[in-house]
Amino acid sequence: MPVFEEPEPKKLLTGVTYSISGPEEIQDGLKLYLNYCTLCHGMPGATEGGILPNLGYSRPEVIQNLQTYVLEGPLTSRGMPNFKGRLGIEDVEKSKRIFRLLLMSINDLIMAI
Ligand code: HEC
Repeated sequence: MPVFEEPEPKKLLTGVTYSISGPEEIQDGLKLYLNYCTLCHGMPGATEGGILPNLGYSRPEVIQNLQTYVLEGPLTSRGMPNFKGRLGIEDVEKSKRIFRLLLMSINDLIMAI
């Protein structure tokens, strides 16, 4: 019988700073993420990701620099679209908050609203 090594469990993203001014922002961010990102990346933290990375497990630097990934197209050759012209910096900020939010406990979410 071949022995399969269990892969190391991945670490959930922590340490991404964000601020929320109110419930509309949460709605906007969630809509953006659902419309533009879930198809490929799934819900943050829901799975460890398959062929495509689940952003809930990305390194904090990746999410802090989300704008570069989304609006400057560094990974287009690997299949990550460049959203320049379709999304703006403010949209990226909103979706960034959502990553963290989706990972937070419901208590934190209630406190944030
Ligand atoms: C058409 C599919 C697709 C869509 C839609 C998509 N991505 Fe991606 N994304 C990718 C692929 C493919 C990669 C590169 C994976 C690799 O490096 O092998 C990637 C990589 C990334 C990375 C780097 C992750 C890491 O840990 O290195 C970030 C950040 C990212 N995407 C953010 C987003 C955001 C935010 C959205 C929504 C605005 C989005 N993506 C929408 C396909 C997609």
